[in-house]
Amino acid sequence: MRMNTFRVHLWVTWSLVIVVSVTLILISTWLSEKSGHLSRDPVAHHQDVHINMDRRDMNVRLFCQQIWSSHKHVNVNNVATSNTKSSCSCGNDSFTIANQPVLPWQRKAYELWENEYRETEEPIVFCPALSPFGYIGGGITVEPGKYANIRGLYIHPTALTCFHGNYDSDTVLLTITCSRGVGTMFVSSSLQYSKFLFISGNNTNQLLVITSFHGNHELINSTNEFNVLLNNIFYQNVYYDIFRRDLIRITLKNITVEINVLIRRQPLPRLYDVRDNKDISSMVTIVTKTFERYKAVNNLIRSIRVYYPNITIVIADDSEFPKHIHGQKIKQFVMPFAEGWFAGRNLALSQVRTKYFLWVDDDFEFTDGTNLELFVEKLDDKNEKLDIVAGIFEKSHGQISVDSYFQIFDISKSENFGSCLVRKRGAHRKLSYKKFPQCYMTDVVLNFFMGKTQSVRKIGFDPEFQRVAHSEFFIDALGELRIAVCLDVSIKHKPVKTSKYNLYRSRDIDPQDKYRNIQHVLFKNNLQCYKLY
Ligand SMILES: *[C@@H]1O[C@H](CO)[C@@H](O)[C@H](O)[C@H]1NC(C)=O
Ligand SMILES: *[C@@H]1O[C@H](CO)[C@@H](O)[C@H](O)[C@H]1NC(C)=O
Ligand SMILES: *[C@@H]1O[C@H](CO)[C@@H](O)[C@H](O)[C@H]1NC(C)=O
Ligand SMILES: *[C@@H]1O[C@H](CO)[C@@H](O)[C@H](O)[C@H]1NC(C)=O
Ligand SMILES: *[C@@H]1O[C@H](CO)[C@@H](O)[C@H](O)[C@H]1NC(C)=O
Repeated sequence: MRMNTFRVHLWVTWSLVIVVSVTLILISTWLSEKSGHLSRDPVAHHQDVHINMDRRDMNVRLFCQQIWSSHKHVNVNNVATSNTKSSCSCGNDSFTIANQPVLPWQRKAYELWENEYRETEEPIVFCPALSPFGYIGGGITVEPGKYANIRGLYIHPTALTCFHGNYDSDTVLLTITCSRGVGTMFVSSSLQYSKFLFISGNNTNQLLVITSFHGNHELINSTNEFNVLLNNIFYQNVYYDIFRRDLIRITLKNITVEINVLIRRQPLPRLYDVRDNKDISSMVTIVTKTFERYKAVNNLIRSIRVYYPNITIVIADDSEFPKHIHGQKIKQFVMPFAEGWFAGRNLALSQVRTKYFLWVDDDFEFTDGTNLELFVEKLDDKNEKLDIVAGIFEKSHGQISVDSYFQIFDISKSENFGSCLVRKRGAHRKLSYKKFPQCYMTDVVLNFFMGKTQSVRKIGFDPEFQRVAHSEFFIDALGELRIAVCLDVSIKHKPVKTSKYNLYRSRDIDPQDKYRNIQHVLFKNNLQCYKLY
């Protein structure tokens, strides 16, 4: 019984399939005959278009009215780009400028910075509905002094029909203007234009394209030609700058659209020769800064040589009576006495000649867990594009808890002058889940990290911070460096305190110094307040 029902279903299905296929074949044969007939008879073809135009006339009129009248120009500056609040705060016990008037020279410095920053921001492009044009809103880049095709620019054929016959005017005037005084427009010479098109202002900052027509043939021909022409419009930069934006305005009747052009001098690559990427000594330099702790730094060097006998070690030393540090491939740079913590880091970093460097404090000790190859592997990863990758401290009594490895900045902007910055525990996310499951993206790491020499040099260590500073570097690196912590590389911290060291390096010993640091951060990073929990 069930078998029978199944057969009946099958039969019905097949009959349907056959009926539908036959119908389709009949229809397509009829259609191809019809079109064959049309293509053999151009007169009939044009008549057909004409009839269609008449039929569509009402719709076209409506469309034309709509595109010319619905067009609004949206002021892109009004579009909110960030979650700015009316005010922000850093909570209790933060460092703050509260109750102090903002220094007028800080305001001035900020405005200067902001103007520069705005220029680098990608502009917002408003692309209206019912636009008569297709165009690219952004992404056109040109080298200074060079030209680029304004790709993708075309006019919708129906928009041109609005000019046809009795609607308004039968002359189309398209104006293309470079609005910032650094560019001109031209139409490439390889084109032969008919009597329909007239171009004026070739190689000036305002190009006019004019066409007018009276009949359908002309409309059809000139729409094509118009678009071929639009395809061959070029922007030429005439004012040298390495980074600047120009804005092209295209106007048809009372409709204007804007195209952003980026003038950008392409920097040349700066490549490192790492032919032998199995030899870590040719890829990594170890850098440290020491101050009145020769016992510690010598212990560090001994431990490094156990694992990496051939790696270069750069030491910046601002002790009062410098002692020569002995050993192969050690570069000791003596600095003025107590020149400072960040000044020393800068000096050491400036001497690095390898692609990567490893930062360690002088009271660290290499162990079996200090596997620099694992750092290199992460910095080399093409997908993660990390600039800094940090490790952890080997656990023993009195060591730092694991969550102190995960620190991020929470920044809130406010309408008031300056932002609020709070350093919190936590991470942004894990790295690529399968490849580096032990790694997390953060904003701040501890003093055991490997970095890309070029990226970190761009940020630099602000020598204003003389004694104790740490997060200050990472505040400067915000939005510039990709930073991660990985739990699979470790080092031992063996705190060594000498009396002289203590005198100079304890955060709370000199309230004057602490105050200076705070004021410097508040000013430099234009903060209302900040808190490092
Ligand atoms: C554009 O011009 C048309 C008439 O050609 C007018 O009806 C319309 O309101 C204008 N639109 C704007 C936004 O000015
Ligand atoms: C800040 O301090 C005030 C009083 O000193 C207290 O009421 C409030 O709970 C504190 N806020 C936080 C977030 O600790
Ligand atoms: C516009 O100027 C360019 C030279 O910059 C020239 O090659 C081209 O033929 C000119 N186009 C027209 C339409 O005159
Ligand atoms: C329009 O173009 C066709 C070929 O594309 C040509 O045969 C015809 O003469 C043109 N019409 C006019 C009015 O120029
Ligand atoms: C030490 O490193 C240098 C490159 O920095 C390399 O040329 C040399 O062969 C290495 N020597 C040993 C013994 O690995």
